[in-house]
Amino acid sequence: MAIENDLVRICSVGELPAEGAVHEFPAGKKMLCIAKLNGVISALDNECSHHGGPLGQGMIENGKVICPWHAYAFDLTTGLCDDDADERVRVFEVTVSGDDVLVKL
Ligand code: FES
Repeated sequence: MAIENDLVRICSVGELPAEGAVHEFPAGKKMLCIAKLNGVISALDNECSHHGGPLGQGMIENGKVICPWHAYAFDLTTGLCDDDADERVRVFEVTVSGDDVLVKL
């Protein structure tokens, strides 16, 4: 559901992944990988830039999301890949408004 302009509601606060985990959520026509680490919510493209693996089905290790297909690690803040400097996923701004988790697409 579009709240205003390009802000899209992803889920409620209670539906967020557990601390240190990731989960896939639809956002408009996209899927996003939503992560929670140290209480900070991050939103990244769910589609890995390497070969399209679903990042939201991966895990967090050493502060990075690990793609479940070939284990490339992506920074939750920058989207940069530790394993290949040519690989990067988009990172989206997250806002919490009341009980709604919103992402700016
Ligand atoms: S598809 Fe993600 S690391 Fe290969």
